[in-house]
Amino acid sequence: MTNTEPMTQASNEELIEHILTRYHDTHREQLPELIQLSERVERVHGGHTACPAGLSSHLTHMAEELETHMAKEEKILFPMIARGMGAMAGGPVAVMRHEHDDHGSALEELERITHGLTLPEGACGSWQRLYHGLANFRDDLQAHIQTENDLLFSRIDGGN
Ligand SMILES: [Fe+2]
Ligand SMILES: [Fe+2]
Repeated sequence: MTNTEPMTQASNEELIEHILTRYHDTHREQLPELIQLSERVERVHGGHTACPAGLSSHLTHMAEELETHMAKEEKILFPMIARGMGAMAGGPVAVMRHEHDDHGSALEELERITHGLTLPEGACGSWQRLYHGLANFRDDLQAHIQTENDLLFSRIDGGN
């Protein structure tokens, strides 16, 4: 069972509401704390071989890109879909799918910077909270993209 399966029966409006509350709100809640934690870990453990060098700037960039992307969905695309104007949404959907690919690449870079989110021996509490939080963020973002691509946007591509 994939994690999009429980939502296959939902209407477009229900699906949009689920995406907003389960994913958009959650990313916005989590990312500021993850950025703060990454700044602390980089500052305190800069000399450590496992230090995720460049993580805070990468996360800051990801948060900015995601905010711009989610705002486009919230202000333009989702209202179009909710109003039943899916036939006109092909262009915006293609742009969103392309940006999802960029988010996927950014997640790969996140894995590289953090050595696959592997904690070093004796990692401090901040480092542990950071990597646990990042694992949740990664899983959420992947599920978020999957829900949009495979459920909501595929209905638009299919003319529904
Ligand atoms: Fe989204
Ligand atoms: Fe999206």
